[in-house]
Amino acid sequence: MKKRFSAAAFALTLAALLVSACGNGGTAVNNGGSEKPAGQDSANTGAAGGGTITMGFSQVGAESGWRSANTKSIQESAKDAGIDLKFSDAQQKQENQIKAIRSFIQQKVDVIAFSPVVESGWDTVLKEAKDAGIPVILTDRAVDSADKSLYRTFIGSDFVEEGRKAGRWLVEQYKDAAEDINIVELQGTTGSAPANDRKAGFEEIIAENPKLKVIASQTGDFTRAKGKEVMQAFLKAHKDIDVLYAHNDDMALGAIQAIEAAGLKPGEDIVIISVDAVKDGMQAAADGKINFIVECNPLLGPQLMEAVKAVVEGKEVEPRIVTNETTFTSEEAKAALPTREY
Ligand code: AHR
Repeated sequence: MKKRFSAAAFALTLAALLVSACGNGGTAVNNGGSEKPAGQDSANTGAAGGGTITMGFSQVGAESGWRSANTKSIQESAKDAGIDLKFSDAQQKQENQIKAIRSFIQQKVDVIAFSPVVESGWDTVLKEAKDAGIPVILTDRAVDSADKSLYRTFIGSDFVEEGRKAGRWLVEQYKDAAEDINIVELQGTTGSAPANDRKAGFEEIIAENPKLKVIASQTGDFTRAKGKEVMQAFLKAHKDIDVLYAHNDDMALGAIQAIEAAGLKPGEDIVIISVDAVKDGMQAAADGKINFIVECNPLLGPQLMEAVKAVVEGKEVEPRIVTNETTFTSEEAKAALPTREY
């Protein structure tokens, strides 16, 4: 399509980003050594007495490469830490997560951790866990509960900032645009924190340039199949799409199939930005089909186990543990691929 962004702009972005570092998040716990807050003692006397810690973990599902890497990280880290993991896959359904949490309460696990599929509707079940004296840790995604005492900490990415990073790159690419730049957006799961926040962060930044226009925005549920289906519909409805902003790599990869099937070149005819930086996404970036990826690190297992142990030992835990992340242009993705862990 028309407004290609220049090779010079790419080179500048590359130079700027080469200095940014990639790494894992900070320390999960603060060894403050305080007393356990009331109602947050470990329910399982085995762990409290120095025995094996039992953790119930409710995972969102297996919707993306990111999620598979996250599950692997949690399972391996639990094993390494000697934590007895009771793992439950919610298949992207909140009702399944609520059932799993209630079952963990009945089983009197020491700690419950979960990655909430959507942000709202958790207060009742979290209150049940609190009343049972079982501490809860959120990983990856947040809940919108006003009562922060319902969980001990939230370990995960800053999704708003991820959206802003995507927006900043785009603003820079098109700072001299003379015509409107038509953007289509593939949103993550409706009501989920990453979908809400990545959208908000991106919109906040692109508002700086009125030429950047989101002409269509729909959920692709974080899956490849849905990303492809929705992109097909976008291509049918809009003849002049310049940019695709996908909230994760899997949807971008599905969309790439639709773009190619329509006889267009992903990364050239349509500029593509995505989030995650899983191996398949990085490969697509190295091949020039995705132009820019914002990293979202799924390797949260070690930080989670550290927090679980601290909570059981009655230590103080930071209420918010943010994961450090970077971004990748095509050239950077090419360089990073051989050592990419997920
Ligand atoms: O919550 C993290 C998001 O969930 C990842 O970006 C996406 O790939 C996953 O399904």
